[in-house]
Amino acid sequence: MVTQLPEWERLDNEAKKAKKINLRQEFALDPHRFQSLSITFDKDIIFDFSRQLVTKETMRQLYDLAEAQKVREKIQDMFHGKKINITENRAVLHTALRNLSGKAVEVDGKDVMPDVKAVLSQIKDFSEKIHQKKCLGVTGKPFKNIVAIGIGGSYLGPEFVAEANRVYAKPGMKLRFLANVDGTDFAQKTEDLNPEETLMVVISKTFTTAETMMNAKTCKQWMLSSLNNHPETVKKHFVAVSTNIKAVTEFGIDPTNIFSFWDWVGGRFSVCSAVGGVPLSLYLGYENFEGLLSGAHKMDTHFIEAPLEENIPITLGLLGIWNNNFLGYNCRALLPYCQALNRFAAHIQQVDMESNGKRVNCEGKVMPITTGPVNFGEPGTNGQHSFYQLIHQGQIVPADFIGFIKPQYEVGEKSASAVDHHQELMSNFFAQPDALAFGKTEQEVREEGVPEFLVPHKTFPGNRPSSLLLFPKLTPETTGMLLAIYEHRTAVEGFIWGINSFDQWGVELGKVLGKNIRKRIQEYNGDPKKKVTEFNPSTNNLLQIFLDQGR
Ligand code: F6P
Repeated sequence: MVTQLPEWERLDNEAKKAKKINLRQEFALDPHRFQSLSITFDKDIIFDFSRQLVTKETMRQLYDLAEAQKVREKIQDMFHGKKINITENRAVLHTALRNLSGKAVEVDGKDVMPDVKAVLSQIKDFSEKIHQKKCLGVTGKPFKNIVAIGIGGSYLGPEFVAEANRVYAKPGMKLRFLANVDGTDFAQKTEDLNPEETLMVVISKTFTTAETMMNAKTCKQWMLSSLNNHPETVKKHFVAVSTNIKAVTEFGIDPTNIFSFWDWVGGRFSVCSAVGGVPLSLYLGYENFEGLLSGAHKMDTHFIEAPLEENIPITLGLLGIWNNNFLGYNCRALLPYCQALNRFAAHIQQVDMESNGKRVNCEGKVMPITTGPVNFGEPGTNGQHSFYQLIHQGQIVPADFIGFIKPQYEVGEKSASAVDHHQELMSNFFAQPDALAFGKTEQEVREEGVPEFLVPHKTFPGNRPSSLLLFPKLTPETTGMLLAIYEHRTAVEGFIWGINSFDQWGVELGKVLGKNIRKRIQEYNGDPKKKVTEFNPSTNNLLQIFLDQGR
Protein backbone atom coordinates (compact mmCIF):
# COMPACT_ATOMS: atom_id res chain seq x y z
CA MET A 1 0.00 0.00 0.00
CA VAL A 2 1.39 3.37 -1.05
CA THR A 3 0.56 4.98 2.31
CA GLN A 4 3.02 2.63 4.04
CA LEU A 5 6.00 3.91 2.07
CA PRO A 6 8.55 6.09 3.92
CA GLU A 7 8.23 8.56 1.01
CA TRP A 8 4.53 8.94 1.84
CA GLU A 9 5.25 9.58 5.52
CA ARG A 10 7.87 12.15 4.63
CA LEU A 11 5.37 13.97 2.45
CA ASP A 12 2.85 13.88 5.28
CA ASN A 13 5.38 15.81 7.39
CA GLU A 14 6.15 18.13 4.49
CA ALA A 15 2.44 18.94 4.23
CA LYS A 16 2.45 20.37 7.76
CA LYS A 17 4.98 22.96 6.57
CA ALA A 18 3.17 23.53 3.27
CA LYS A 19 -0.01 24.55 5.02
CA LYS A 20 1.91 27.55 6.36
CA ILE A 21 3.32 28.57 2.95
CA ASN A 22 2.67 32.18 2.12
CA LEU A 23 2.81 32.56 -1.64
CA ARG A 24 3.43 36.31 -1.47
CA GLN A 25 6.52 35.69 0.63
CA GLU A 26 7.69 32.77 -1.50
CA PHE A 27 7.57 34.92 -4.62
CA ALA A 28 9.24 37.85 -2.85
CA LEU A 29 12.05 35.70 -1.45
CA ASP A 30 12.77 33.79 -4.64
CA PRO A 31 12.79 35.82 -7.85
CA HIS A 32 13.47 32.57 -9.74
CA ARG A 33 10.42 30.73 -8.41
CA PHE A 34 8.77 30.77 -11.85
CA GLN A 35 11.89 29.29 -13.50
CA SER A 36 12.25 26.56 -10.87
CA LEU A 37 8.57 25.63 -10.77
CA SER A 38 7.65 25.57 -14.45
CA ILE A 39 8.28 23.32 -17.44
CA THR A 40 8.60 24.43 -21.05
CA PHE A 41 7.83 21.86 -23.71
CA ASP A 42 8.34 22.04 -27.46
CA LYS A 43 9.74 25.59 -27.08
CA ASP A 44 6.45 27.37 -26.54
CA ILE A 45 4.14 25.31 -24.32
CA ILE A 46 4.52 26.41 -20.72
CA PHE A 47 3.30 24.64 -17.59
CA ASP A 48 3.66 27.02 -14.64
CA PHE A 49 3.05 25.51 -11.21
CA SER A 50 4.75 28.24 -9.21
CA ARG A 51 1.43 29.12 -7.50
CA GLN A 52 1.07 25.63 -6.02
CA LEU A 53 1.68 25.25 -2.28
CA VAL A 54 5.03 23.61 -2.85
CA THR A 55 8.73 24.30 -2.45
CA LYS A 56 11.57 22.78 -4.43
CA GLU A 57 11.94 20.33 -1.54
CA THR A 58 8.28 19.28 -1.83
CA MET A 59 8.75 18.61 -5.52
CA ARG A 60 11.85 16.54 -4.82
CA GLN A 61 9.88 14.43 -2.36
CA LEU A 62 7.01 14.01 -4.81
CA TYR A 63 9.42 12.82 -7.51
CA ASP A 64 10.90 10.41 -4.91
CA LEU A 65 7.39 9.05 -4.36
CA ALA A 66 7.03 8.54 -8.12
CA GLU A 67 10.32 6.59 -8.13
CA ALA A 68 9.23 4.52 -5.15
CA GLN A 69 5.94 3.65 -6.84
CA LYS A 70 7.81 2.78 -10.05
CA VAL A 71 5.80 5.23 -12.13
CA ARG A 72 8.31 5.18 -14.99
CA GLU A 73 8.24 1.38 -15.16
CA LYS A 74 4.44 1.41 -15.12
CA ILE A 75 4.40 3.92 -18.00
CA GLN A 76 6.73 1.61 -19.95
CA ASP A 77 4.38 -1.32 -19.22
CA MET A 78 1.40 0.68 -20.48
CA PHE A 79 3.09 1.78 -23.71
CA HIS A 80 4.41 -1.73 -24.39
CA GLY A 81 1.14 -3.62 -24.19
CA LYS A 82 1.45 -5.26 -20.78
CA LYS A 83 -1.99 -6.23 -19.45
CA ILE A 84 -2.13 -3.59 -16.74
CA ASN A 85 -5.94 -3.60 -16.69
CA ILE A 86 -5.77 -6.65 -14.48
CA THR A 87 -9.46 -7.07 -13.69
CA GLU A 88 -10.31 -7.33 -17.38
CA ASN A 89 -7.00 -8.88 -18.43
CA ARG A 90 -6.44 -6.20 -21.05
CA ALA A 91 -3.61 -4.08 -22.33
CA VAL A 92 -4.07 -0.28 -22.22
CA LEU A 93 -2.81 1.00 -25.52
CA HIS A 94 -4.51 4.22 -26.55
CA THR A 95 -0.97 5.49 -27.21
CA ALA A 96 -0.65 2.92 -30.05
CA LEU A 97 -3.54 4.64 -31.84
CA ARG A 98 -1.31 7.68 -32.40
CA ASN A 99 2.03 5.92 -32.54
CA LEU A 100 3.72 7.69 -35.44
CA SER A 101 7.17 6.42 -34.49
CA GLY A 102 7.14 3.56 -36.98
CA LYS A 103 7.96 1.15 -34.13
CA ALA A 104 5.97 -2.01 -33.47
CA VAL A 105 3.67 -2.29 -30.45
CA GLU A 106 2.91 -5.84 -29.40
CA VAL A 107 0.02 -7.41 -27.54
CA ASP A 108 0.33 -11.16 -26.93
CA GLY A 109 3.30 -11.23 -29.31
CA LYS A 110 1.39 -9.61 -32.20
CA ASP A 111 2.19 -6.16 -33.58
CA VAL A 112 -1.03 -4.13 -33.47
CA MET A 113 0.24 -1.34 -35.71
CA PRO A 114 -0.75 -2.87 -39.10
CA ASP A 115 -4.39 -3.08 -37.88
CA VAL A 116 -4.26 0.49 -36.53
CA LYS A 117 -2.94 1.77 -39.85
CA ALA A 118 -5.50 -0.22 -41.84
CA VAL A 119 -8.40 1.38 -39.93
CA LEU A 120 -6.83 4.83 -40.33
CA SER A 121 -6.65 4.39 -44.09
CA GLN A 122 -10.25 3.09 -44.12
CA ILE A 123 -11.31 6.29 -42.29
CA LYS A 124 -9.32 8.45 -44.71
CA ASP A 125 -10.82 6.79 -47.79
CA PHE A 126 -14.34 6.92 -46.43
CA SER A 127 -14.24 10.55 -45.33
CA GLU A 128 -12.68 11.61 -48.62
CA LYS A 129 -15.40 9.80 -50.58
CA ILE A 130 -18.05 11.64 -48.55
CA HIS A 131 -16.33 15.00 -49.12
CA GLN A 132 -15.82 14.33 -52.81
CA LYS A 133 -19.51 13.39 -53.05
CA LYS A 134 -18.68 9.89 -54.26
CA CYS A 135 -20.81 8.39 -51.50
CA LEU A 136 -24.38 9.65 -51.66
CA GLY A 137 -27.67 9.06 -49.85
CA VAL A 138 -30.42 6.88 -51.31
CA THR A 139 -31.98 9.81 -53.19
CA GLY A 140 -28.65 10.80 -54.72
CA LYS A 141 -27.96 13.77 -52.42
CA PRO A 142 -24.53 14.37 -50.85
CA PHE A 143 -24.20 14.19 -47.05
CA LYS A 144 -24.21 17.49 -45.18
CA ASN A 145 -25.18 16.28 -41.72
CA ILE A 146 -23.47 13.76 -39.50
CA VAL A 147 -25.24 12.43 -36.39
CA ALA A 148 -22.85 10.61 -34.06
CA ILE A 149 -24.87 8.29 -31.83
CA GLY A 150 -22.98 7.17 -28.72
CA ILE A 151 -22.58 7.83 -25.01
CA GLY A 152 -19.80 8.13 -22.39
CA GLY A 153 -16.42 7.39 -23.93
CA SER A 154 -18.11 6.94 -27.30
CA TYR A 155 -19.28 10.55 -27.18
CA LEU A 156 -17.51 12.96 -24.83
CA GLY A 157 -14.03 12.87 -26.37
CA PRO A 158 -15.18 13.32 -29.98
CA GLU A 159 -17.51 16.13 -28.91
CA PHE A 160 -14.74 17.96 -27.03
CA VAL A 161 -12.39 17.70 -30.04
CA ALA A 162 -15.10 18.68 -32.54
CA GLU A 163 -16.02 21.78 -30.51
CA ALA A 164 -12.37 22.68 -29.98
CA ASN A 165 -11.73 22.66 -33.72
CA ARG A 166 -15.03 23.86 -35.14
CA VAL A 167 -13.22 26.75 -36.79
CA TYR A 168 -11.50 24.20 -39.07
CA ALA A 169 -14.73 22.32 -40.01
CA LYS A 170 -15.49 21.46 -43.64
CA PRO A 171 -17.71 24.22 -45.02
CA GLY A 172 -21.39 23.26 -44.95
CA MET A 173 -20.86 20.14 -42.80
CA LYS A 174 -22.85 19.81 -39.56
CA LEU A 175 -21.99 17.39 -36.75
CA ARG A 176 -24.48 16.55 -34.03
CA PHE A 177 -24.01 14.23 -31.06
CA LEU A 178 -26.94 12.15 -29.88
CA ALA A 179 -26.11 10.68 -26.48
CA ASN A 180 -28.97 10.97 -24.01
CA VAL A 181 -31.76 8.41 -24.22
CA ASP A 182 -34.14 11.24 -23.28
CA GLY A 183 -36.35 11.67 -26.37
CA THR A 184 -35.70 15.40 -26.21
CA ASP A 185 -32.15 14.80 -27.35
CA PHE A 186 -33.29 12.86 -30.42
CA ALA A 187 -36.03 15.41 -31.21
CA GLN A 188 -33.76 18.41 -30.91
CA LYS A 189 -30.78 16.90 -32.71
CA THR A 190 -32.81 15.78 -35.73
CA GLU A 191 -35.62 18.37 -35.96
CA ASP A 192 -33.96 20.55 -38.62
CA LEU A 193 -32.09 17.81 -40.50
CA ASN A 194 -33.00 16.53 -43.93
CA PRO A 195 -32.71 12.70 -43.69
CA GLU A 196 -31.71 12.54 -47.37
CA GLU A 197 -28.52 14.45 -46.49
CA THR A 198 -27.88 12.79 -43.13
CA LEU A 199 -25.36 10.10 -42.25
CA MET A 200 -25.69 8.27 -38.93
CA VAL A 201 -22.52 7.05 -37.21
CA VAL A 202 -23.38 4.58 -34.46
CA ILE A 203 -20.47 4.49 -32.01
CA SER A 204 -20.41 1.82 -29.34
CA LYS A 205 -17.53 -0.38 -28.26
CA THR A 206 -19.87 -3.12 -27.05
CA PHE A 207 -22.84 -2.33 -29.31
CA THR A 208 -25.06 -3.28 -26.38
CA THR A 209 -25.25 0.01 -24.44
CA ALA A 210 -28.95 0.57 -23.78
CA GLU A 211 -29.05 4.31 -24.54
CA THR A 212 -27.10 4.02 -27.78
CA MET A 213 -29.06 1.02 -29.02
CA MET A 214 -32.39 2.75 -28.38
CA ASN A 215 -31.23 5.95 -30.09
CA ALA A 216 -29.85 3.97 -33.04
CA LYS A 217 -33.18 2.13 -33.49
CA THR A 218 -35.15 5.38 -33.27
CA CYS A 219 -32.86 6.97 -35.88
CA LYS A 220 -33.29 3.92 -38.10
CA GLN A 221 -37.10 4.22 -37.90
CA TRP A 222 -36.93 7.98 -38.49
CA MET A 223 -34.72 7.50 -41.51
CA LEU A 224 -36.77 4.61 -42.97
CA SER A 225 -40.09 6.40 -42.57
CA SER A 226 -38.68 9.63 -44.07
CA LEU A 227 -37.12 7.79 -47.01
CA ASN A 228 -40.22 5.70 -47.88
CA ASN A 229 -38.61 2.54 -46.52
CA HIS A 230 -36.04 2.60 -49.28
CA PRO A 231 -34.36 -0.84 -49.09
CA GLU A 232 -30.85 0.68 -49.10
CA THR A 233 -31.54 3.17 -46.29
CA VAL A 234 -29.47 1.46 -43.58
CA LYS A 235 -26.76 0.41 -46.00
CA LYS A 236 -26.24 3.94 -47.30
CA HIS A 237 -27.10 6.12 -44.30
CA PHE A 238 -25.59 4.16 -41.39
CA VAL A 239 -22.01 3.35 -40.49
CA ALA A 240 -20.72 1.96 -37.19
CA VAL A 241 -17.66 2.11 -34.97
CA SER A 242 -17.46 -0.93 -32.71
CA THR A 243 -15.53 -3.96 -31.54
CA ASN A 244 -18.72 -6.09 -31.78
CA ILE A 245 -18.90 -6.82 -35.52
CA LYS A 246 -21.60 -9.49 -35.11
CA ALA A 247 -24.08 -7.14 -33.38
CA VAL A 248 -23.41 -4.34 -35.90
CA THR A 249 -24.10 -6.69 -38.80
CA GLU A 250 -27.31 -7.89 -37.13
CA PHE A 251 -28.41 -4.25 -36.89
CA GLY A 252 -28.21 -4.20 -40.70
CA ILE A 253 -25.11 -2.10 -41.22
CA ASP A 254 -23.03 -3.03 -44.28
CA PRO A 255 -19.85 -4.83 -43.08
CA THR A 256 -17.76 -2.54 -45.33
CA ASN A 257 -19.07 0.39 -43.28
CA ILE A 258 -17.84 -0.96 -39.95
CA PHE A 259 -14.79 0.72 -38.45
CA SER A 260 -13.32 -1.51 -35.81
CA PHE A 261 -11.14 -1.02 -32.81
CA TRP A 262 -9.82 -3.31 -30.11
CA ASP A 263 -10.39 -4.35 -26.53
CA TRP A 264 -7.09 -2.69 -25.56
CA VAL A 265 -8.69 0.72 -26.19
CA GLY A 266 -10.73 1.79 -23.16
CA GLY A 267 -13.94 3.71 -23.96
CA ARG A 268 -12.86 6.95 -22.28
CA PHE A 269 -9.43 6.70 -23.92
CA SER A 270 -10.79 6.02 -27.42
CA VAL A 271 -10.88 9.50 -29.05
CA CYS A 272 -7.87 8.66 -31.19
CA SER A 273 -9.43 5.42 -32.48
CA ALA A 274 -12.21 5.27 -35.07
CA VAL A 275 -14.50 6.45 -32.23
CA GLY A 276 -13.17 9.96 -32.82
CA GLY A 277 -11.64 9.23 -36.21
CA VAL A 278 -14.86 8.71 -38.14
CA PRO A 279 -16.98 11.66 -36.96
CA LEU A 280 -14.00 14.02 -36.70
CA SER A 281 -12.63 13.19 -40.16
CA LEU A 282 -16.09 13.68 -41.64
CA TYR A 283 -16.51 17.00 -39.87
CA LEU A 284 -12.98 18.44 -39.89
CA GLY A 285 -11.28 16.49 -42.67
CA TYR A 286 -8.91 13.56 -42.20
CA GLU A 287 -5.86 15.86 -42.18
CA ASN A 288 -7.14 17.59 -39.04
CA PHE A 289 -7.78 14.25 -37.33
CA GLU A 290 -4.17 13.38 -38.20
CA GLY A 291 -3.14 16.69 -36.58
CA LEU A 292 -4.84 15.55 -33.38
CA LEU A 293 -2.95 12.23 -33.52
CA SER A 294 0.36 13.94 -34.12
CA GLY A 295 -0.13 16.32 -31.15
CA ALA A 296 -1.09 13.45 -28.87
CA HIS A 297 1.90 11.42 -30.09
CA LYS A 298 4.28 14.31 -29.33
CA MET A 299 2.97 14.45 -25.78
CA ASP A 300 3.15 10.64 -25.47
CA THR A 301 6.82 10.78 -26.46
CA HIS A 302 7.49 13.52 -23.91
CA PHE A 303 5.62 11.49 -21.25
CA ILE A 304 7.65 8.34 -21.78
CA GLU A 305 11.02 10.02 -22.38
CA ALA A 306 11.31 13.23 -20.33
CA PRO A 307 12.95 13.01 -16.90
CA LEU A 308 10.51 13.24 -13.98
CA GLU A 309 11.35 16.88 -13.21
CA GLU A 310 10.76 17.96 -16.81
CA ASN A 311 7.71 15.82 -17.41
CA ILE A 312 4.42 17.73 -17.64
CA PRO A 313 1.89 14.88 -17.11
CA ILE A 314 3.95 13.32 -14.31
CA THR A 315 4.34 16.65 -12.51
CA LEU A 316 0.65 17.45 -12.99
CA GLY A 317 -0.28 14.04 -11.58
CA LEU A 318 2.02 14.44 -8.57
CA LEU A 319 0.57 17.86 -7.81
CA GLY A 320 -2.86 16.25 -7.99
CA ILE A 321 -1.80 13.70 -5.35
CA TRP A 322 -0.25 16.46 -3.25
CA ASN A 323 -3.36 18.63 -3.23
CA ASN A 324 -5.77 15.75 -2.76
CA ASN A 325 -4.03 13.44 -0.28
CA PHE A 326 -1.60 15.65 1.58
CA LEU A 327 -3.36 19.02 1.67
CA GLY A 328 -6.87 17.51 1.73
CA TYR A 329 -8.37 19.37 -1.26
CA ASN A 330 -10.60 16.72 -2.87
CA CYS A 331 -12.07 18.83 -5.63
CA ARG A 332 -10.33 20.44 -8.60
CA ALA A 333 -11.32 22.82 -11.37
CA LEU A 334 -10.39 22.87 -15.04
CA LEU A 335 -10.68 26.41 -16.33
CA PRO A 336 -9.91 26.90 -20.02
CA TYR A 337 -9.89 30.54 -21.08
CA CYS A 338 -11.16 29.44 -24.43
CA GLN A 339 -14.78 29.08 -25.52
CA ALA A 340 -13.83 26.33 -28.00
CA LEU A 341 -12.87 24.17 -25.00
CA ASN A 342 -16.42 24.33 -23.66
CA ARG A 343 -16.69 20.51 -23.59
CA PHE A 344 -13.18 19.82 -22.36
CA ALA A 345 -14.06 19.61 -18.67
CA ALA A 346 -16.98 17.27 -19.44
CA HIS A 347 -14.60 14.90 -21.22
CA ILE A 348 -11.93 15.03 -18.52
CA GLN A 349 -14.60 14.41 -15.89
CA GLN A 350 -15.16 11.00 -17.45
CA VAL A 351 -11.49 10.30 -18.16
CA ASP A 352 -10.54 11.07 -14.58
CA MET A 353 -13.54 10.15 -12.46
CA GLU A 354 -14.45 6.89 -14.24
CA SER A 355 -10.77 5.91 -14.11
CA ASN A 356 -9.77 6.91 -10.61
CA GLY A 357 -13.00 6.90 -8.61
CA LYS A 358 -11.98 3.59 -7.03
CA ARG A 359 -12.23 2.13 -3.54
CA VAL A 360 -9.64 -0.66 -3.70
CA ASN A 361 -6.10 -1.01 -5.00
CA CYS A 362 -4.91 -3.60 -7.55
CA GLU A 363 -4.61 -6.17 -4.75
CA GLY A 364 -8.25 -5.60 -3.78
CA LYS A 365 -7.36 -3.81 -0.52
CA VAL A 366 -9.62 -0.93 0.52
CA MET A 367 -7.77 2.37 0.07
CA PRO A 368 -7.34 4.24 3.38
CA ILE A 369 -7.18 7.59 1.51
CA THR A 370 -9.26 9.44 -1.07
CA THR A 371 -8.53 8.34 -4.62
CA GLY A 372 -9.85 10.36 -7.58
CA PRO A 373 -11.01 13.86 -6.68
CA VAL A 374 -14.13 15.55 -8.03
CA ASN A 375 -13.31 17.28 -11.33
CA PHE A 376 -15.41 20.08 -12.72
CA GLY A 377 -14.97 23.08 -14.91
CA GLU A 378 -16.27 25.72 -17.22
CA PRO A 379 -14.62 28.07 -19.67
CA GLY A 380 -13.41 31.38 -18.31
CA THR A 381 -14.72 34.01 -18.18
CA ASN A 382 -18.18 32.39 -17.75
CA GLY A 383 -17.06 30.53 -14.62
CA GLN A 384 -15.99 33.82 -13.02
CA HIS A 385 -19.61 34.93 -13.00
CA SER A 386 -20.76 31.61 -11.60
CA PHE A 387 -18.73 29.59 -9.07
CA TYR A 388 -15.50 31.59 -8.67
CA GLN A 389 -16.93 33.23 -5.54
CA LEU A 390 -16.55 29.84 -3.85
CA ILE A 391 -13.01 29.24 -5.06
CA HIS A 392 -11.87 32.72 -3.95
CA GLN A 393 -13.47 32.91 -0.52
CA GLY A 394 -15.16 29.56 0.14
CA GLN A 395 -13.59 26.11 -0.14
CA ILE A 396 -10.07 25.68 -1.48
CA VAL A 397 -10.27 24.18 -4.98
CA PRO A 398 -6.96 23.73 -6.82
CA ALA A 399 -7.44 24.96 -10.37
CA ASP A 400 -5.75 24.54 -13.74
CA PHE A 401 -5.98 27.62 -15.94
CA ILE A 402 -5.54 26.90 -19.67
CA GLY A 403 -4.86 29.76 -22.07
CA PHE A 404 -3.69 30.44 -25.62
CA ILE A 405 -1.40 33.14 -26.97
CA LYS A 406 -3.35 33.51 -30.20
CA PRO A 407 -7.13 33.27 -30.64
CA GLN A 408 -8.96 31.16 -33.22
CA TYR A 409 -10.96 34.22 -34.29
CA GLU A 410 -9.60 37.78 -34.37
CA VAL A 411 -12.48 39.86 -33.03
CA GLY A 412 -12.30 43.54 -32.11
CA GLU A 413 -9.57 46.11 -32.58
CA LYS A 414 -6.44 46.76 -30.58
CA SER A 415 -5.49 50.34 -29.88
CA ALA A 416 -3.82 52.47 -27.25
CA SER A 417 -7.18 52.89 -25.54
CA ALA A 418 -8.75 49.49 -26.15
CA VAL A 419 -8.04 45.76 -26.14
CA ASP A 420 -9.52 43.20 -28.49
CA HIS A 421 -11.66 40.25 -27.33
CA HIS A 422 -8.75 37.89 -26.90
CA GLN A 423 -6.71 40.39 -24.92
CA GLU A 424 -9.73 41.04 -22.70
CA LEU A 425 -10.19 37.29 -22.17
CA MET A 426 -6.51 36.77 -21.38
CA SER A 427 -6.47 39.70 -18.92
CA ASN A 428 -8.75 37.53 -16.82
CA PHE A 429 -6.61 34.43 -17.41
CA PHE A 430 -3.60 36.20 -15.91
CA ALA A 431 -5.49 37.98 -13.13
CA GLN A 432 -7.48 35.12 -11.58
CA PRO A 433 -4.55 32.87 -10.53
CA ASP A 434 -2.95 35.90 -8.84
CA ALA A 435 -6.15 36.72 -6.98
CA LEU A 436 -6.25 33.12 -5.75
CA ALA A 437 -2.57 32.99 -4.83
CA PHE A 438 -1.95 36.42 -3.34
CA GLY A 439 -5.40 37.44 -2.13
CA LYS A 440 -6.02 40.73 -0.38
CA THR A 441 -5.24 41.28 3.28
CA GLU A 442 -7.48 43.00 5.83
CA GLN A 443 -4.95 45.81 6.02
CA GLU A 444 -5.08 46.38 2.26
CA VAL A 445 -8.86 46.43 2.38
CA ARG A 446 -8.80 48.97 5.22
CA GLU A 447 -6.31 51.14 3.36
CA GLU A 448 -8.90 51.46 0.61
CA GLY A 449 -11.17 53.18 3.10
CA VAL A 450 -13.64 50.30 3.30
CA PRO A 451 -16.00 50.61 6.32
CA GLU A 452 -14.92 48.32 9.16
CA PHE A 453 -18.01 46.07 9.02
CA LEU A 454 -17.24 45.26 5.35
CA VAL A 455 -13.55 44.47 5.87
CA PRO A 456 -13.94 40.71 6.53
CA HIS A 457 -16.31 40.41 3.56
CA LYS A 458 -13.84 42.06 1.20
CA THR A 459 -10.77 40.17 2.41
CA PHE A 460 -9.29 37.41 0.23
CA PRO A 461 -7.23 34.84 2.15
CA GLY A 462 -4.96 33.95 -0.81
CA ASN A 463 -2.61 30.92 -0.80
CA ARG A 464 -5.06 29.06 -3.05
CA PRO A 465 -3.15 26.76 -5.40
CA SER A 466 -3.40 26.87 -9.17
CA SER A 467 -1.35 26.06 -12.28
CA LEU A 468 -1.25 27.73 -15.66
CA LEU A 469 -0.86 25.99 -19.01
CA LEU A 470 -0.10 28.36 -21.86
CA PHE A 471 -0.20 27.16 -25.50
CA PRO A 472 0.50 29.09 -28.71
CA LYS A 473 -2.94 28.49 -30.30
CA LEU A 474 -5.74 25.94 -30.18
CA THR A 475 -5.29 23.73 -33.26
CA PRO A 476 -5.89 20.01 -33.86
CA GLU A 477 -2.27 19.44 -32.83
CA THR A 478 -2.45 21.34 -29.53
CA THR A 479 -5.85 19.73 -28.86
CA GLY A 480 -4.07 16.36 -29.12
CA MET A 481 -1.38 17.50 -26.70
CA LEU A 482 -3.93 18.74 -24.19
CA LEU A 483 -5.86 15.50 -24.46
CA ALA A 484 -2.73 13.40 -23.86
CA ILE A 485 -1.57 15.57 -20.94
CA TYR A 486 -4.81 14.95 -19.05
CA GLU A 487 -5.14 11.28 -20.04
CA HIS A 488 -1.64 10.75 -18.67
CA ARG A 489 -2.27 12.80 -15.51
CA THR A 490 -5.01 10.29 -14.71
CA ALA A 491 -2.70 7.33 -15.35
CA VAL A 492 0.07 8.81 -13.18
CA GLU A 493 -2.27 9.35 -10.23
CA GLY A 494 -3.60 5.80 -10.58
CA PHE A 495 -0.02 4.44 -10.73
CA ILE A 496 0.88 6.29 -7.53
CA TRP A 497 -2.16 4.93 -5.69
CA GLY A 498 -1.61 1.45 -7.11
CA ILE A 499 -5.21 1.22 -8.31
CA ASN A 500 -6.50 -0.02 -11.67
CA SER A 501 -7.47 3.15 -13.56
CA PHE A 502 -8.67 1.22 -16.58
CA ASP A 503 -11.78 -0.68 -15.48
CA GLN A 504 -15.17 0.76 -14.44
CA TRP A 505 -17.07 -1.78 -12.35
CA GLY A 506 -18.78 1.06 -10.51
CA VAL A 507 -21.14 1.69 -13.43
CA GLU A 508 -22.51 -1.88 -13.49
CA LEU A 509 -24.89 -2.11 -10.52
CA GLY A 510 -27.08 0.79 -11.66
CA LYS A 511 -27.32 -0.79 -15.14
CA VAL A 512 -28.50 -4.13 -13.67
CA LEU A 513 -31.09 -2.47 -11.41
CA GLY A 514 -32.27 -0.45 -14.42
CA LYS A 515 -32.90 -3.71 -16.28
CA ASN A 516 -35.25 -4.95 -13.52
CA ILE A 517 -37.22 -1.69 -13.55
CA ARG A 518 -37.41 -1.69 -17.35
CA LYS A 519 -38.78 -5.25 -17.26
CA ARG A 520 -41.42 -4.24 -14.69
CA ILE A 521 -42.46 -1.22 -16.80
CA GLN A 522 -42.88 -3.55 -19.78
CA GLU A 523 -45.07 -5.86 -17.67
CA TYR A 524 -47.17 -2.88 -16.62
CA ASN A 525 -47.63 -1.94 -20.28
CA GLY A 526 -49.19 -5.40 -20.75
CA ASP A 527 -51.14 -5.50 -17.46
CA PRO A 528 -51.67 -2.05 -15.83
CA LYS A 529 -53.86 -3.48 -13.04
CA LYS A 530 -51.11 -5.49 -11.37
CA LYS A 531 -49.62 -3.41 -8.52
CA VAL A 532 -45.86 -2.82 -8.20
CA THR A 533 -44.79 -4.66 -5.04
CA GLU A 534 -41.46 -6.32 -5.76
CA PHE A 535 -39.08 -3.46 -4.89
CA ASN A 536 -38.58 -1.46 -1.68
CA PRO A 537 -41.48 0.74 -0.42
CA SER A 538 -39.99 3.93 -1.85
CA THR A 539 -39.43 2.52 -5.35
CA ASN A 540 -42.79 0.67 -5.29
CA ASN A 541 -44.72 3.85 -4.50
CA LEU A 542 -42.88 6.21 -6.81
CA LEU A 543 -42.84 3.76 -9.71
CA GLN A 544 -46.57 3.11 -9.28
CA ILE A 545 -47.29 6.87 -9.40
CA PHE A 546 -45.03 7.28 -12.46
CA LEU A 547 -46.79 4.43 -14.26
CA ASP A 548 -50.35 5.40 -13.35
CA GLN A 549 -49.93 9.10 -14.06
CA GLY A 550 -47.74 8.65 -17.11
CA ARG A 551 -50.25 6.40 -18.83
O1 F6P B 1 -21.28 3.02 -18.63
C1 F6P B 1 -19.98 3.40 -18.82
C2 F6P B 1 -19.44 2.93 -20.15
O2 F6P B 1 -19.18 1.59 -20.10
C3 F6P B 1 -18.20 3.73 -20.49
O3 F6P B 1 -17.06 3.26 -19.93
C4 F6P B 1 -18.23 3.70 -21.97
O4 F6P B 1 -17.42 4.68 -22.51
C5 F6P B 1 -19.69 3.92 -22.24
O5 F6P B 1 -20.33 3.20 -21.21
C6 F6P B 1 -20.20 3.52 -23.59
O6 F6P B 1 -19.95 2.19 -23.90
P1 F6P B 1 -20.05 1.65 -25.38
O7 F6P B 1 -19.03 2.32 -26.20
O8 F6P B 1 -19.82 0.18 -25.27
O9 F6P B 1 -21.44 1.95 -25.89
